[in-house]
Amino acid sequence: MFDTELFEKHLATSWLGRSFYFFEELPSTNSYAKQLNGESVYHGALVLTDHQTGGRGQYDRKWKAEPGKNLTFSLVFEPQKAERFTLLTLACALAVSEIVNSCAEVETKLKWPNDILCDNKKLCGILTETQFYGNRLDRVVVGIGLNVNQTKFDGELSAKATSLCNECGEAFSREKVMADILQKIEYRYRLWNQFNTDLVKQINRALIGFGQWTHLEVNNEKLEEEYKFLGVNEAGSLIALNKDFDIRTFSHEQVRVNI
Ligand code: BTN
Repeated sequence: MFDTELFEKHLATSWLGRSFYFFEELPSTNSYAKQLNGESVYHGALVLTDHQTGGRGQYDRKWKAEPGKNLTFSLVFEPQKAERFTLLTLACALAVSEIVNSCAEVETKLKWPNDILCDNKKLCGILTETQFYGNRLDRVVVGIGLNVNQTKFDGELSAKATSLCNECGEAFSREKVMADILQKIEYRYRLWNQFNTDLVKQINRALIGFGQWTHLEVNNEKLEEEYKFLGVNEAGSLIALNKDFDIRTFSHEQVRVNI
């Protein structure tokens, strides 16, 4: 079971995760975070569960995680501006990958739009959802599933998924990993909020396929011509160059990068 007291002892953030909702079991931390009453939820709130029974992924997929072995959590942000969410998701992905790289000494890369891969296998997935109150952005929920101590994955996942424990051959303290991740995300959030240009460069350096010629899939169709993947711009759109030197930008929902 996740030790909430130990986690709180490790936690060194100033605001992120200080409002903390823990559940032994929950259908989905994202769904819970989205339905929290607007008056009682705080910017930086953390919702975490040890057993997520109906975890949701991108493109209506399911997210499965063995109970008591992984980290499945959501962060609630209330940014002033209703834009650049792709960049915020990537900033969070960068933060998680930095923590994994430092604590596990493995090399992870970001896969557009919001996965973290290690050894070409998926270690972490992120689902960002926004909520509006009329025209006004109410909250952004960044849901993160990180495989930590799970060693066996069922069915087709066995070839596609990995965990920190599988990559390093040892179990990790989820409480410490969680606290470290929050500290790093808090730092990356600040840079995101300040429109920091180095953040964009660092994200791009961590993206699989950055600077390479590749095939893009737009709205589920593979484009025939090759594009040079130029990463993400400051608005959070994907930029790509074709052989005629035309630069095109795509929103994150539209496009997948096949490397
Ligand atoms: C994906 O890879 O498709 C994204 C997976 C996101 C899973 C996390 S686990 C915590 C949070 N709650 C959910 O229901 N989903 C996200």
